[in-house]
Amino acid sequence: MSTQIRDHIKIFDTTLRDGEQSPGASMNLDEKVRIAKTLEAMGVDIIEAGFAVASPGDFESVQEVSKVVKDAVVASLSRTVLEDVRRAGQALRPAARPRIHIVIATSPLHMRVKLQMEPEEVLQQIVDSVTLARDLCDDVEWSAEDATRSEHDFLCRCAETAIKAGATTINIPDTVGYAMPDDIQALFEMLCSRVPNIDKATLSAHCHNDLGLAVANSLAAIKGGARQIECTINGIGERAGNAALEEIVMAIRTRPDAMPYTTNIETTDITKVSKLVSTVTGFAVQNNKAIVGANAFAHESGIHQDGILKDAKTYEIMTPESVGLTESSLVMGKHSGRHAFREKLKDLGYELGDNQLQDTFKRFKILADKKKTVFDEDIVALVDDEVVRDFQRIKFISLQVVCGSTGPQTADLSLEIDGEEFTHKCEGNGPIDAAFRAIKALFPTTASLQLYQVHAVTRGTDAQAEVTVRLEEDGKTINGQGADPDTIVASVRAYVNALNKLLVKREKTAPAALSA
Ligand code: KIV
Ligand code: ZN
Repeated sequence: MSTQIRDHIKIFDTTLRDGEQSPGASMNLDEKVRIAKTLEAMGVDIIEAGFAVASPGDFESVQEVSKVVKDAVVASLSRTVLEDVRRAGQALRPAARPRIHIVIATSPLHMRVKLQMEPEEVLQQIVDSVTLARDLCDDVEWSAEDATRSEHDFLCRCAETAIKAGATTINIPDTVGYAMPDDIQALFEMLCSRVPNIDKATLSAHCHNDLGLAVANSLAAIKGGARQIECTINGIGERAGNAALEEIVMAIRTRPDAMPYTTNIETTDITKVSKLVSTVTGFAVQNNKAIVGANAFAHESGIHQDGILKDAKTYEIMTPESVGLTESSLVMGKHSGRHAFREKLKDLGYELGDNQLQDTFKRFKILADKKKTVFDEDIVALVDDEVVRDFQRIKFISLQVVCGSTGPQTADLSLEIDGEEFTHKCEGNGPIDAAFRAIKALFPTTASLQLYQVHAVTRGTDAQAEVTVRLEEDGKTINGQGADPDTIVASVRAYVNALNKLLVKREKTAPAALSA
C-alpha cells in the first residue's frame, strides 16, 4: 500500500509546454515569464516551462522562468537522449526547485514505429537517462508516453526501473486521449498494487482530451491513486487539448463528498489566469466552457433567473466569486490622479516601471475622456496592451479611415519605423483590410495573416476592443495584441505588435536578418 499523502493533489501545469504545442499558441519569452509568475501566485505546485533542447527559445524560457519562480518547482521536459537531459539540467540551473522530466514511449506501437527500439532498449534508456538526471537534480519525473496503450507487465517494469534509477514522480500519460475513466482508475490501482517500489514515488496522470474525457480521466486517476495531475489553463494543448486545470480544481473543491482531496490552488485567481492565457495565445475561450466561459455563470431562462434571485444555490453549484468572477467594479474617472492609478494597478497585480506607468496613465486619461465608465477590465486591457510594447521598432502614430456602405473604404496610416515617420493611404475591402494593406505597404514582410480576432473587454457600445492578430513566417507563429475603444485602431495596434514580436524572433534566430 502506498504511503503517499492521501489527501493532497499536486497541480502540475504544462500550459507553457504542452499548451504551447497547440498549433498557433506560440508565446514569447516575456509572456511565458508573466504566465509563470501568475501560475506561481495562484499556487501551482509544478510549472513545466518548456522543453529545453527543442530550440534556443525554449532553453531561454526554461532558464528565465527558473530565475523568477521561487516557490513552485520548475520542470523542463527531456527525451531519454543524454544530451537532452544535460540541456534540461543547464536550463534549470537558476531554479530554486528544479525538476527534470524525462519521457519515452512504452506502448508496442510507439516503440516499434516511432522509436524502432526493442523493449529492453527502452528499459536501458530509462536507466541511463534517469540516472544522469538524478546526478543533476534531486527531483526527477519519468513519463511513459502512450502509457494507456502499453502492456501492463512492461509498464510496471518500466515504472519500477525508473524509480530504482532515481525517479521521484511516475507520470502515466493518456497521450492520445483514448482511455475511459474506468480504465484509468483500474490502471492506477494496478500500478499501485503491482509496482513494488511505487511508495517511493508520486504517481501522476496526464490526460488528453480527444474524446472529451481528459478531466473525467484525471479525476478517475486520482481515485486510482494519482497524487499529481498534469493540466493546462483553459485546457489548451496538442490536438483537442489537455485536462483543464480550472475544471479539475473546481471539481475537487465543489464535490468534497466524491473527491475528498485538497489542492494549493487559490481558485479566485482562475478567471484572471484564464484571461491572460487566452489573450496571450489568441485562443478564445468558448462561451459555454465550464468554469471560465462567458456563460458559465449566466442565467438566461426566466425560471432559472427567478430561482437564482430567490436563492443562488438553486442553479449555481459554485459561486462566481469563488473563481474570481466579481461584478465589474467602477474604477476612477478622468479626474483620478497618478497615485490613485498606481494603487489601482497594484490591486490588480501589476507593478510597472516609471516609463510604462507614465505611458499607461496617459492612455488611461484619454480612455476616461472617451468612455463614460472605466472598469477594472479596461485597465487590465490597457496595461496588457502597454506591457506587450517593450520592444518597438515599429510604432503606431495615427489612423484615419473612411468606411460605410458607399465605398471606397480607405485607411490613412502613419507609423514610426526605426525612429522615422511614414504615412500611406490605401483602399481596401472594408476599413480593416485597408488598414492592414497600409501596414503591409509601409513594412512589407513575408509573414501571412493566420488569425484576426476581436473581443469586447466590457459590455456596451463604448467598450474597448481587444484584438489578436496571428502572423506566420517560416512555420513559426506569433500572436500580437492591441486594445483601444476604436476597433480599427486596436486592430492596427495588434498587427504592429505582432510585427515587433516577429522582429525580435528574427533577431534571435539570425541577428543579421533585421531588415523587413
Ligand atoms: O502527452 C504526453 O504523452 C506528453 C508527455 C511528454 C508527458 O505530453
Ligand atoms: Zn501531453
